[in-house]
Amino acid sequence: MCGIVGYVGPRRDDRAQQVVMEGLARLEYRGYDSAGIALVADGEVATRKAAGKLANLRAALENAPLPPSAAGIGHTRWATHGGPTDANAHPHRGGTDGRLALIHNGIIENFHSLKTELLADGVEFTSETDTEVAAHLVARAYEQTGDLTEAMRAVVNRLEGAFTLLAVHADAPQTVVGARRNSPLVVGLGDGENFLGSDVAAFIGYTKQAMEMGQDQIATITPTSVEVIGFDGQPAQGARFEVTWDAAAAEKGGYATFMEKEINEQPHAVGDTLLGRTDSAGALVLDEVRISEDELRAVDRIVIVACGTASYAGMVAKYAIEHWTRIQCEVELAHEFRYRDPVIGANTLVVSISQSGETMDTLMAVKHARELGAKTVSICNTHGATIPRESDAVLYTHAGPEIAVASTKAFLAQITACYVLGLYLAQLRGGTHADEAQAVMRELAQVPEKIETLLGQMDRVKEIAYFMADTRSVLFLGRHVGYPIAMEGALKLKELAYIHAEGFAAGELKHGPIALIEPGQPVFIVVPGPDTPHGLHHKVVSNIQEIRARGARTLVIAEEGDEDVVPFADEVIRIPATPPLLAPLLSVVPLQVFALELATAKGLDVDQPRNLAKSVTVE
Ligand code: M6R
Repeated sequence: MCGIVGYVGPRRDDRAQQVVMEGLARLEYRGYDSAGIALVADGEVATRKAAGKLANLRAALENAPLPPSAAGIGHTRWATHGGPTDANAHPHRGGTDGRLALIHNGIIENFHSLKTELLADGVEFTSETDTEVAAHLVARAYEQTGDLTEAMRAVVNRLEGAFTLLAVHADAPQTVVGARRNSPLVVGLGDGENFLGSDVAAFIGYTKQAMEMGQDQIATITPTSVEVIGFDGQPAQGARFEVTWDAAAAEKGGYATFMEKEINEQPHAVGDTLLGRTDSAGALVLDEVRISEDELRAVDRIVIVACGTASYAGMVAKYAIEHWTRIQCEVELAHEFRYRDPVIGANTLVVSISQSGETMDTLMAVKHARELGAKTVSICNTHGATIPRESDAVLYTHAGPEIAVASTKAFLAQITACYVLGLYLAQLRGGTHADEAQAVMRELAQVPEKIETLLGQMDRVKEIAYFMADTRSVLFLGRHVGYPIAMEGALKLKELAYIHAEGFAAGELKHGPIALIEPGQPVFIVVPGPDTPHGLHHKVVSNIQEIRARGARTLVIAEEGDEDVVPFADEVIRIPATPPLLAPLLSVVPLQVFALELATAKGLDVDQPRNLAKSVTVE
């Protein structure tokens, strides 16, 4: 939820501030309630903090510049304990004359008892945060040991909850210490300088060499060394990796917003996620799935756990996975799964879907599934993130960095990866659909071009969005794989445009929601292609007639050449023809564009909508 960056270099100059501020700009998508920076210089720690977006911190630095420094830490916040004020912004100070500064991502669950202890000892608090407790504790431990790493270690072993902590001390002008438990932290390995970040975006402008930190580990970085130990004090090793994208991928590249850029990157997101999944004979191979073929053949139930948009990707995938594998597949919101005593066995495959790989609800669900004996596969877009590391296997989506809070290209990549997994399982198990796997992969390979075509036809959708800028409520209907797309269309509109929006299964309409229809009510309808089995196309066309008869304004998403919808549609938005199970990869695109444009027409910040953050690392 919060963004964290740390830097240490060889010289005292303005580079530390520059690196930290640039890192914060790249991490601002993680939280944007307030921001702050601490630099070590002249035997003291100097800090600046400001409520609001990063621009406010920049202004504060211009008004009161910080001294040259070789080491610094910075933080961009999504408030949990205490509102988004200057006082609650990180870094927090601890120790005599505030000689230690500390930043934090996560929640310290036992902060109240620790704070009571500190208050009884006469410690004065200046904020309402749980973080300040850690700052005072580490500072006090340092005063006893004179060693920042040991001080951090003594404290993390007393903390409960999820946290990444970074600390600097006035006595150590070229050292930053970071610790993590259930919250992300990566090391950036530079040439004569080193970095710490919530994710690699923090330092991608400076190095592509990175190192994953394991659970319950502490890293101490200096300009020339990176030392990692466990919370038990034993030396530990991180896994090194090279970041496969560069700084340009995390910039807007000429688009007005990250969201617009990411929508336009969707053909690549799907195409890249399909790359390298088949051998020269066309058979599916999944190098990243390190669960034995025998174990996968024995799977008798699949449970997909995810949150938000990722859960809708799972709902889409359920239709395809059950069809291809004949294995029962359920989709559950990760936070509900974790706390309802689910029935899970050794032959259950729990598939988590997460763009960030850090969503705490999903992480907890995966851990619980493993405790119950299930095999776990993570579908994830972020290399080295916590969820893939805590899973038995991972299938990376290759959507590239997704910066906008509203998920778009990751959604398409998640559906694609789920389909690859489903087809792989079908192939392993044999049977009728095993033979189809290669044919479906060929059809999937055509999808990127179809998305590209579709993106070139969005002018009318943009116009509709601008005309509807004052709309107070929009409904979305879909059936079969179009049902989760209706839910996703509604979620995009809620989170970006702050208007009432609801997605329904079209078949459910007559069981209640049709009462909402009044003259002029806009309703998007995602129409299954005419080839969809069981006559679903005609059933949805009938639904359109039913709501039109009651005055709804019908905005119909239908395949090229589907003329049946024309008499009942106020607007027809065409998508290229594609097999029914692949249609969601196309039908969601106009809904993403609609939400983006309507929010833009309302003058809203589409990349950083209110109250939200990109990765939700608290439960
Ligand atoms: O990083 P994750 O994929 O685990 O995130 C899950 C949801 O928080 C996320 O999809 C959220 O719903 C998006 N803001 C929707 O656009």
